[in-house]
Amino acid sequence: MEHSARAQEGDTASNGGTVDGADRRVTSIFNSAVGAWAIAAAWEIGMLDELKTTKEVNAVEFAAAHGLDAASMVGLSRALAAVEVVEREGTVVRVSSNFDETYRTKSFFHWLVRGSAEIFRQMPHSLIKRNRVGAYYQRDSAAIAYACREINELCYDSTFWAAIARLGYDVGVVADLGCGSGGRVIDVLNRYPSARGIGVDIARPALENARLDAATAGLAKRTTFLEADVLDLQPRPEFADVDLVTCFMMGHDFWPKDRCVATLRRLRECFPAARRLLLGDATRVEGVADTDLPIFVLGFELGHDLMDITLPTIAEWEGVFEEGGWHLVRTNRIEMTVGEVIFELA
Ligand SMILES: C[S@@+](CC[C@H](N)C(=O)[O-])C[C@H]1O[C@@H](n2cnc3c(N)ncnc32)[C@H](O)[C@@H]1O
Repeated sequence: MEHSARAQEGDTASNGGTVDGADRRVTSIFNSAVGAWAIAAAWEIGMLDELKTTKEVNAVEFAAAHGLDAASMVGLSRALAAVEVVEREGTVVRVSSNFDETYRTKSFFHWLVRGSAEIFRQMPHSLIKRNRVGAYYQRDSAAIAYACREINELCYDSTFWAAIARLGYDVGVVADLGCGSGGRVIDVLNRYPSARGIGVDIARPALENARLDAATAGLAKRTTFLEADVLDLQPRPEFADVDLVTCFMMGHDFWPKDRCVATLRRLRECFPAARRLLLGDATRVEGVADTDLPIFVLGFELGHDLMDITLPTIAEWEGVFEEGGWHLVRTNRIEMTVGEVIFELA
């Protein structure tokens, strides 16, 4: 009698949990955080790929085969099971009904916990206005480039290749701004066997990986990777023949508006022979309830707020092109999670 009266009041149950289930829900917040780390790690060490192929992995055998710590691998498997990505029986895990969706979206987890972890770890510091000067946050640029390669495939690639098919000319020299791992340069060169490619990025670790990947792909002689700030780009002899400029997942760094207009104009000066600029990026998602946000949005937008980076809306982008010296030929709205869009500019 006393218990049911307490239950009606939503009071604390005798085992210390709340009788309305809030304890389980709050526990799942904690477990999801650990699960996110486990998903990103399981991808990087090859376990997600093995599960995708074989549907079942013995964590201890996997650890032995890959030089990993067995106890930690069983712990990682338990974390994956706690968030219901797999089902676990002792050291054996099998894919659950959530596995395929987790596999499809694994790069978002990786972006969050491997590439951007430091931003969130330092959140209390970055919230304080007076701290937000100079290089007040860090990210892992190589890890971000790793995740972005797959985010590209998932979100942008089919629309990007459709835009390439509409170019109406064979690419001679492509310049990719904020090139990260260099994947886009490599892909375009594979499509146009006589083209050359230039990748520009501000982050040295990402450029080093890009050079290695281009060399592995047999493209070392056809590629140049330059360390430079796209927001302060200067004309160079190598840029003179560039006929296609691409810029993916960094256009938001052009903002706020005045700097964006100035950067767009500068690109016209730096690349006088450019016939197309393909600008693909995330935009700010509006009008979705907090509890209905698609995957990635929450981390992406809070992360950028903490970095003091303005995420423009599609309409705000469309309002700067003419002033920036570019004619908008077509807006491709992808809007898979974070308001992805590709603008085709002439
Ligand atoms: C999210 S990653 C995207 C990488 C690549 N474009 C892709 O589509 O996979 C953004 C890249 O832009 C680079 N970046 C950011 N600001 C930059 C700037 N001002 N100048 C040059 N590169 C910049 C980062 O170092 C990073 O490699």
